[in-house]
Amino acid sequence: MTKRNSPGMISRIVARLTPDTEGSATAMLKSDHRKVEDLFAEFDDAGARQRGRIASRTVEELAVHATLEEEIFYPALEAELEDVRPVECAEEEHGLMKKLLEELAGMTSGAPHFEAKYQVLKEIVRHHVREEEAQIFPTAEATELDLKALGEQMQSRKAELTGRGTREQRREHRSSRGAPKRKTGGGSSGGKQRAAVARGKAKRQG
Ligand SMILES: [Fe+2]
Repeated sequence: MTKRNSPGMISRIVARLTPDTEGSATAMLKSDHRKVEDLFAEFDDAGARQRGRIASRTVEELAVHATLEEEIFYPALEAELEDVRPVECAEEEHGLMKKLLEELAGMTSGAPHFEAKYQVLKEIVRHHVREEEAQIFPTAEATELDLKALGEQMQSRKAELTGRGTREQRREHRSSRGAPKRKTGGGSSGGKQRAAVARGKAKRQG
Protein backbone atom coordinates (compact mmCIF):
# COMPACT_ATOMS: atom_id res chain seq x y z
CA MET A 1 0.00 0.00 0.00
CA THR A 2 1.32 3.46 -0.87
CA LYS A 3 1.72 5.81 2.07
CA ARG A 4 0.07 9.21 1.46
CA ASN A 5 0.93 12.45 3.26
CA SER A 6 -2.04 14.02 5.06
CA PRO A 7 -2.79 17.74 4.42
CA GLY A 8 -1.92 18.39 8.11
CA MET A 9 1.47 16.82 7.66
CA ILE A 10 2.15 18.90 4.55
CA SER A 11 1.23 22.18 6.27
CA ARG A 12 3.50 21.26 9.21
CA ILE A 13 6.38 20.65 6.77
CA VAL A 14 5.68 23.95 4.97
CA ALA A 15 5.56 25.78 8.33
CA ARG A 16 8.93 24.30 9.25
CA LEU A 17 10.46 25.33 5.92
CA THR A 18 9.02 28.87 6.08
CA PRO A 19 9.44 29.95 9.72
CA ASP A 20 7.04 32.53 11.14
CA THR A 21 9.34 35.51 11.45
CA GLU A 22 6.74 38.18 12.22
CA GLY A 23 7.88 40.30 15.18
CA SER A 24 11.24 38.55 15.17
CA ALA A 25 14.67 40.15 15.41
CA THR A 26 15.34 39.52 11.71
CA ALA A 27 11.94 40.94 10.66
CA MET A 28 12.66 44.06 12.71
CA LEU A 29 16.11 44.52 11.18
CA LYS A 30 14.72 43.99 7.65
CA SER A 31 12.08 46.64 8.31
CA ASP A 32 14.88 49.04 9.36
CA HIS A 33 16.66 48.24 6.09
CA ARG A 34 13.52 49.12 4.06
CA LYS A 35 13.15 52.40 5.97
CA VAL A 36 16.74 53.41 5.19
CA GLU A 37 16.33 52.43 1.52
CA ASP A 38 13.29 54.73 1.38
CA LEU A 39 15.42 57.55 2.82
CA PHE A 40 18.09 56.92 0.16
CA ALA A 41 15.43 57.19 -2.58
CA GLU A 42 14.01 60.37 -0.96
CA PHE A 43 17.52 61.85 -0.88
CA ASP A 44 17.99 61.24 -4.61
CA ASP A 45 14.70 62.99 -5.42
CA ALA A 46 15.16 65.91 -3.01
CA GLY A 47 16.53 69.40 -3.51
CA ALA A 48 19.63 70.67 -1.68
CA ARG A 49 17.67 72.04 1.31
CA GLN A 50 15.78 68.83 2.03
CA ARG A 51 18.90 66.71 1.61
CA GLY A 52 20.36 67.93 4.92
CA ARG A 53 17.19 66.93 6.78
CA ILE A 54 17.05 63.53 5.05
CA ALA A 55 20.72 62.91 5.83
CA SER A 56 20.05 63.65 9.54
CA ARG A 57 17.20 61.14 9.59
CA THR A 58 19.38 58.56 7.83
CA VAL A 59 22.13 59.08 10.43
CA GLU A 60 19.65 58.62 13.30
CA GLU A 61 18.09 55.48 11.82
CA LEU A 62 21.42 53.84 11.03
CA ALA A 63 22.98 54.71 14.38
CA VAL A 64 20.12 53.00 16.22
CA HIS A 65 20.14 50.04 13.81
CA ALA A 66 23.89 49.52 14.23
CA THR A 67 23.63 49.73 18.02
CA LEU A 68 20.88 47.09 18.13
CA GLU A 69 22.90 44.75 15.95
CA GLU A 70 26.14 45.25 17.87
CA GLU A 71 24.72 45.13 21.38
CA ILE A 72 22.10 42.42 20.97
CA PHE A 73 21.80 40.62 17.63
CA TYR A 74 25.41 39.89 16.67
CA PRO A 75 26.60 38.69 20.13
CA ALA A 76 23.57 36.37 20.43
CA LEU A 77 24.18 35.00 16.93
CA GLU A 78 27.94 34.60 17.40
CA ALA A 79 27.26 32.48 20.47
CA GLU A 80 25.33 30.04 18.24
CA LEU A 81 27.84 29.77 15.39
CA GLU A 82 30.99 27.78 14.83
CA ASP A 83 32.06 30.08 12.01
CA VAL A 84 31.58 33.69 13.11
CA ARG A 85 33.45 35.26 10.16
CA PRO A 86 30.34 36.59 8.32
CA VAL A 87 29.27 38.36 11.53
CA GLU A 88 32.79 39.72 12.07
CA CYS A 89 32.75 41.09 8.49
CA ALA A 90 29.44 42.83 9.25
CA GLU A 91 30.95 44.32 12.42
CA GLU A 92 33.91 45.65 10.42
CA GLU A 93 31.52 47.26 7.94
CA HIS A 94 29.76 48.91 10.86
CA GLY A 95 33.07 50.55 11.76
CA LEU A 96 33.28 52.17 8.32
CA MET A 97 29.63 53.11 8.38
CA LYS A 98 29.83 54.73 11.82
CA LYS A 99 32.81 56.86 10.79
CA LEU A 100 30.69 58.29 7.95
CA LEU A 101 27.69 58.72 10.25
CA GLU A 102 29.78 60.77 12.68
CA GLU A 103 31.14 62.93 9.88
CA LEU A 104 27.73 63.48 8.26
CA ALA A 105 26.15 64.32 11.63
CA GLY A 106 28.41 67.36 11.88
CA MET A 107 27.85 68.62 8.32
CA THR A 108 25.36 70.87 6.56
CA SER A 109 24.10 69.90 3.11
CA GLY A 110 26.21 72.60 1.43
CA ALA A 111 29.49 71.46 2.98
CA PRO A 112 32.27 70.09 0.77
CA HIS A 113 32.14 66.29 0.48
CA PHE A 114 28.63 66.11 1.99
CA GLU A 115 27.16 64.52 -1.17
CA ALA A 116 30.17 62.23 -1.63
CA LYS A 117 29.98 60.98 1.96
CA TYR A 118 26.27 60.28 1.68
CA GLN A 119 26.79 58.36 -1.58
CA VAL A 120 29.59 56.24 -0.06
CA LEU A 121 27.39 55.60 2.99
CA LYS A 122 24.67 54.40 0.61
CA GLU A 123 27.04 51.92 -1.03
CA ILE A 124 28.27 50.53 2.29
CA VAL A 125 24.72 50.16 3.62
CA ARG A 126 23.49 48.50 0.41
CA HIS A 127 26.30 45.95 0.69
CA HIS A 128 25.50 45.43 4.39
CA VAL A 129 21.81 44.84 3.57
CA ARG A 130 22.64 42.30 0.82
CA GLU A 131 25.03 40.35 3.05
CA GLU A 132 22.66 40.26 6.01
CA GLU A 133 19.54 39.36 4.10
CA ALA A 134 21.20 36.76 1.85
CA GLN A 135 23.49 35.15 4.42
CA ILE A 136 23.33 36.28 8.04
CA PHE A 137 19.56 36.36 8.64
CA PRO A 138 18.87 32.95 7.01
CA THR A 139 21.71 31.55 9.15
CA ALA A 140 20.16 33.08 12.30
CA GLU A 141 16.75 31.68 11.38
CA ALA A 142 18.25 28.18 11.11
CA THR A 143 19.75 28.28 14.64
CA GLU A 144 18.06 27.59 17.96
CA LEU A 145 17.98 31.31 18.80
CA ASP A 146 14.60 32.56 20.00
CA LEU A 147 14.34 35.36 17.46
CA LYS A 148 10.99 36.59 18.76
CA ALA A 149 12.35 37.05 22.29
CA LEU A 150 15.43 38.72 20.81
CA GLY A 151 13.14 40.97 18.73
CA GLU A 152 11.29 42.04 21.89
CA GLN A 153 14.57 42.80 23.61
CA MET A 154 15.64 44.88 20.59
CA GLN A 155 12.30 46.75 20.51
CA SER A 156 12.78 47.74 24.15
CA ARG A 157 16.36 48.84 23.54
CA LYS A 158 15.22 50.82 20.49
CA ALA A 159 12.57 52.54 22.62
CA GLU A 160 15.28 53.43 25.13
CA LEU A 161 17.65 54.74 22.43
CA THR A 162 15.07 56.82 20.60
CA GLY A 163 13.10 57.84 23.70
CA ARG A 164 9.99 56.96 21.68
CA GLY A 165 8.91 53.80 23.49
CA THR A 166 6.50 53.28 26.30
CA ARG A 167 7.68 53.17 29.90
CA GLU A 168 6.90 49.40 29.87
CA GLN A 169 9.20 48.81 26.88
CA ARG A 170 12.07 50.65 28.56
CA ARG A 171 11.49 48.76 31.82
CA GLU A 172 11.34 45.47 29.85
CA HIS A 173 14.73 46.20 28.27
CA ARG A 174 16.35 46.87 31.64
CA SER A 175 14.96 43.65 33.11
CA SER A 176 15.80 41.49 30.04
CA ARG A 177 19.50 42.40 29.86
CA GLY A 178 21.63 39.25 29.84
CA ALA A 179 18.65 36.86 29.68
CA PRO A 180 19.24 33.78 27.49
CA LYS A 181 17.41 33.97 24.16
CA ARG A 182 17.25 30.38 22.93
CA LYS A 183 14.23 28.43 21.74
CA THR A 184 15.08 25.56 24.05
CA GLY A 185 16.21 26.08 27.63
CA GLY A 186 19.33 24.68 29.32
CA GLY A 187 22.53 23.54 27.66
CA SER A 188 25.84 25.27 27.71
CA SER A 189 24.91 27.86 25.13
CA GLY A 190 23.38 30.27 27.69
CA GLY A 191 26.80 30.70 29.26
CA LYS A 192 28.39 30.86 25.83
CA GLN A 193 25.88 33.54 24.83
CA ARG A 194 26.48 35.62 27.95
CA ALA A 195 30.24 35.31 27.37
CA ALA A 196 29.76 36.54 23.79
CA VAL A 197 27.65 39.47 25.00
CA ALA A 198 30.40 40.32 27.49
CA ARG A 199 32.98 40.01 24.70
CA GLY A 200 30.94 42.37 22.54
CA LYS A 201 30.73 44.89 25.38
CA ALA A 202 34.46 44.68 26.06
CA LYS A 203 35.16 45.19 22.34
CA ARG A 204 32.93 48.27 22.23
CA GLN A 205 34.47 49.75 25.37
CA GLY A 206 38.05 49.03 24.26
FE1 LIG B 1 21.46 45.56 9.31
